[in-house]
Amino acid sequence: MASLKVLVLRWVGRLARRLVSTRFGQALTASVSAQGLPELGEFVTDDGTRHVRFDGYRDRVVPRWRAMVESTESGPPSFDEAAASAAKRDIADVSLLLESHGASLTGLRVLEVGCHGGLHAFAMADAGAASVLAIDVPEYGVRQAVGEDGSSDRLQAQSSTLSELRRVNAAEFRRSDTVHFLDLDVVEVTEEAAYDFVFSWETFEHLIDPRGALTAMARALVVGGHAFHAYNPFFAHNGGHSLATLDFPYGHVVLSDSEFARYVEEFRPSEASRAVAFHRSSLNRMTQSQFREQAAATGFDIVEFLPWMTRKNLAAVDPQTVQRAQKLHPSVVVADLAAAEVWVLLRKRA
Ligand SMILES: C[S@@+](CC[C@H](N)C(=O)[O-])C[C@H]1O[C@@H](n2cnc3c(N)ncnc32)[C@H](O)[C@@H]1O
Repeated sequence: MASLKVLVLRWVGRLARRLVSTRFGQALTASVSAQGLPELGEFVTDDGTRHVRFDGYRDRVVPRWRAMVESTESGPPSFDEAAASAAKRDIADVSLLLESHGASLTGLRVLEVGCHGGLHAFAMADAGAASVLAIDVPEYGVRQAVGEDGSSDRLQAQSSTLSELRRVNAAEFRRSDTVHFLDLDVVEVTEEAAYDFVFSWETFEHLIDPRGALTAMARALVVGGHAFHAYNPFFAHNGGHSLATLDFPYGHVVLSDSEFARYVEEFRPSEASRAVAFHRSSLNRMTQSQFREQAAATGFDIVEFLPWMTRKNLAAVDPQTVQRAQKLHPSVVVADLAAAEVWVLLRKRA
């Protein structure tokens, strides 16, 4: 029989391989600096600061950006096996975290915020949740596609596409009948003490009123209920996501709103309006310390606060970047720039 040490090593190796295979793991392990890339020229900010632009920097930091930005009208929605497996693994990890704090997903009434196609919602149902109400807003997808909040026709079309995707996904899960969807902004959730668990994945950074969202989440939870959020903060090297990651490190953080607009108009004219709208209206600027303060102020205890970073992430944060970031966002610290992901487990206070 294998010794305990060997079993533990195997388990650690499996966890590491699993982590690296996820989108979140790739964000952690991807190269974060522009080292070795050919120079493309430069961009000069309003105060005369020169930023060298690098060929391939965006590919390095957000490898899948083309699929997101260049996606044209595609066929009918289809089931994505790899994304479903990743969602199941995410939920398995979140379950472990809950169990470490004496809780369990089994039997919980769950509210998921920012559910998109519902893969995490279905995975939570299959993992034992009693029910899942999964909410989302069609405006976000429309803004990414056309650079504005869109006409009611566009919103309706986006809403129908999501419904179809959820229908396709539902067929692949055992307990999908316990999952329900609603087009609803989280700040408009008015129910009180109706849920045991609030969950979001890769969504918190997109909430334009994070404090209002935390208030609504606290109201919706029973006392002692948990909230879990995994998010990719704006200040991370890859926090500009596909549309707002520029061609040099931390461009989306260190350029002002007008400099950002000038940059994309000059170098990415075909994406400019979408990029400006996304940078301005789809990414909040919440630092880790602000998250903690606002969670505490809205009635939560912070049970776990896990900023994920590697030595490589840290090495890419040079003093000029910190100072430039702080000029625009005074409460930013190195950890905000170096953490590619943050996981937070909160508990509603009595
Ligand atoms: C990057 S997607 C993540 C989707 C999904 N959780 C996943 O992991 O694939 C962020 C989602 O948050 C949603 N969202 C943004 N603001 C929201 C709000 N105020 N209320 C509810 N959902 C919101 C967006 O519409 C979008 O579907």
